[in-house]
Amino acid sequence: MLGEGPSSQCSYTYGDSGYWDARYLEEGLSSIDWYQRYSALRPFLREFLPLSSRVLMAGCGNALMSEDMVKDGYVDIVNIDISSVVIEIMRRKCAHIPQLEYMQMDVRDMSFFQDESFHCVIDKGTLDSLMCGTNAPLSAFQMLEEVSRILKPGGTYMLITYGDPSVRVPHLNKTGCKWKIMLYVIPRPGYQAGDGSSSSKSIMEPVPLTDKGLLPTDFILEDPDSHYIYICKKMNELLEDDRVVVDANIV
Ligand SMILES: C[S@@+](CC[C@H](N)C(=O)[O-])C[C@H]1O[C@@H](n2cnc3c(N)ncnc32)[C@H](O)[C@@H]1O
Repeated sequence: MLGEGPSSQCSYTYGDSGYWDARYLEEGLSSIDWYQRYSALRPFLREFLPLSSRVLMAGCGNALMSEDMVKDGYVDIVNIDISSVVIEIMRRKCAHIPQLEYMQMDVRDMSFFQDESFHCVIDKGTLDSLMCGTNAPLSAFQMLEEVSRILKPGGTYMLITYGDPSVRVPHLNKTGCKWKIMLYVIPRPGYQAGDGSSSSKSIMEPVPLTDKGLLPTDFILEDPDSHYIYICKKMNELLEDDRVVVDANIV
């Protein structure tokens, strides 16, 4: 499963819609939240996304994330996935929740949506899936171009991934959009250090990036299978010269 460990993170099948359809048929009505549950991510959402935001959940799967967000007060979440199987399951399951909409769609072609129509796009494991498929760089480029197109100026792309900055920032750099990026690192659920303690760092402390968008050389990753949370703000292109603006924490 993605996120369980470096050797098992990437399977070519993750980029294939047939794989996901078969998997969701088998899973039926069960729910799986990849990487992290809403409870762990809540501090980031509540810090960066107002409750009134129009949110796109890109590659929603059968995760409980969107339902948990509604319970917490979010009011407008459009959920898309390439798997028609999971969309049909989720549409029926959540028919009584007016704040949630489900649509079958490929994140590489979201032409159904108008430009600048969302305040936020949340991606938990979907860019990672594309990165596992064939033509991964092209797929990533197409997805990120679409994400930047549908985001309002100042809108947020929240990317939750196992990919460290050396393998994710270059893809963000390739889009025609300028991003202001803040990075957070969060241990996998249940992580305990060798001595049995949990992480000593606050997860809400942003990790400074170098001016090349990399982790500082002296950065110590407590849990080697940590997840990375990129808060990418779409900048006004007329105001900024640099393609990727690494927040105030440049080292
Ligand atoms: C790793 S799962 C993550 C699911 C969910 N976001 C979560 O956190 O549990 C990746 C999801 O992306 C979907 N997906 C893969 N390629 C996609 C594409 N091109 N467009 C839309 N969804 C896609 C898969 O069907 C799957 O539901």
